[in-house]
Amino acid sequence: MKTAKTTLVKSFKVGQIDKRIYGSFIEHLGRAVYGGIYDPGHPLADEDGLRTDVIDSVKRLNVPIVRYPGGNFVSGYNWEDGVGPKELRPKKLELAWSVTEDNSFGTDEFMKWCKKADTDCMMAVNLGTRGVDAARNLVEYCNHPSGTFYSDMRVKNGAKEPHNIKLWCLGNEMDGPWQLGHKTAEDYGLLANEAAKAMKAVDNSIETVICGSSNYGMRTFGEWEATTLDIAYDAVNYVSLHQYFDNRCDDTASFLAKNMDMERFIKSVVSICDYIKGKKHSNHTVNLSFDEWNVWYHSNDIPFDKWSKAPHQLEDIYNFEDALLIGLILITLLRNCDRVKVACLAQLVNVIAPIMTENGGRMFEQTIFYPFSHVSNFGRGSVLYQVIDSPMHDTREFSLVPDIDSVSVLSDDENELTVFAVNRNEKEDVLFDVRLIEMDGMKPVEFIQMSGFGLKETNGFDSSPVKPKNAELPELDGDRVQIKLPPLSWNVVRFKK
Ligand code: AHR
Repeated sequence: MKTAKTTLVKSFKVGQIDKRIYGSFIEHLGRAVYGGIYDPGHPLADEDGLRTDVIDSVKRLNVPIVRYPGGNFVSGYNWEDGVGPKELRPKKLELAWSVTEDNSFGTDEFMKWCKKADTDCMMAVNLGTRGVDAARNLVEYCNHPSGTFYSDMRVKNGAKEPHNIKLWCLGNEMDGPWQLGHKTAEDYGLLANEAAKAMKAVDNSIETVICGSSNYGMRTFGEWEATTLDIAYDAVNYVSLHQYFDNRCDDTASFLAKNMDMERFIKSVVSICDYIKGKKHSNHTVNLSFDEWNVWYHSNDIPFDKWSKAPHQLEDIYNFEDALLIGLILITLLRNCDRVKVACLAQLVNVIAPIMTENGGRMFEQTIFYPFSHVSNFGRGSVLYQVIDSPMHDTREFSLVPDIDSVSVLSDDENELTVFAVNRNEKEDVLFDVRLIEMDGMKPVEFIQMSGFGLKETNGFDSSPVKPKNAELPELDGDRVQIKLPPLSWNVVRFKK
């Protein structure tokens, strides 16, 4: 059998994981809000019209922060339309996704949902069709206790306590020509700087995320980050990265290597941030917010009725192969946890999402739900340095690619270790030989695995066959454990003292 090797040393840490790396995203798009988290007529909806079965599922995913309200949507959104008495809220054309928005759900409803789903909000402001004024007013509305126009408006609308939102996106994908109010890097850098300054003047405890490139392939990638950061460096805490992956050519080997592209993207953005930091002789570090990532391509050509309300849009049904790439992406994000502090699986419900619902009806958890829930639930603590000596296989897009990719997380009390690993080899088992140094008494207690499914197998409302199962526990032999990783498998080996 082929063998891969790694050594984990308790005291050799890449860094502490910021729990916000397990974030997700709810946009006013398709049925994410209407028919997804909010469905007042549903038998399981609570007094606020929020679906309790969806909330339970979100809790199983253990998502600590959710980005809202967009996405492309935010660049044409007037936040004032979504607060106050519902009968007075305007119905408007929503230009990003060619639908009608009736604004029956807005900021205060979302904040109620966050509380019930046990998560925080990462709020985005509109820097497309609006600017500094609307942005600072929204911070006042959300975070100022009371006694001013906007904070009293919130209190009058039923939210006595401030929402206290700590993380704010300065617009969305402003480098993209498709974005309403798209700008040049210079124009956006100046606007982001002024908006962040004003927003922080209202509440100096908030952190801001400046828009980086919409994806690694943008013609302006690199220049965009360098120019905007050069202008707004001191006013921002994070730069955003977005990337979606597809397997349109039906080339599994290349598809399962695409997290290597993500790794390059991350390293490049880190270099740009640090170039600007060096150039400015600054002590301030700008970190990364990978606030949109997922597989997205299954649903692209499905038609919908223009200007309808909450049609079926971007409802990708994910297969087992997608779940493997999600595992690999999570491994990549964690490996870079010293700089990636925030990341959002885009999105959370119905729209390119791990959770799917019927309007008024059933729900199910997609294949990609499981690797995300494993990493989010067991991947809390610090990432250990890990060099992997792995057999390789050839791919069309990436040449030689290691069979095994893996990351390991030590809990804060140092009593639990979890090894996450994917075997990308399509045909062969690989024996993963893991040495544990400075970890006396650490024993394998659980081995969760997803393997043996057809690559295109999916879950659905009627049956969900693609689920994890328990595999036979590997034995500890002195300071090493040998874990058999089946071909095309997602593996979670948990150790405890
Ligand atoms: O997540 C779907 C869309 O993808 C978002 O609205 C946009 O930011 C990105 O292009």
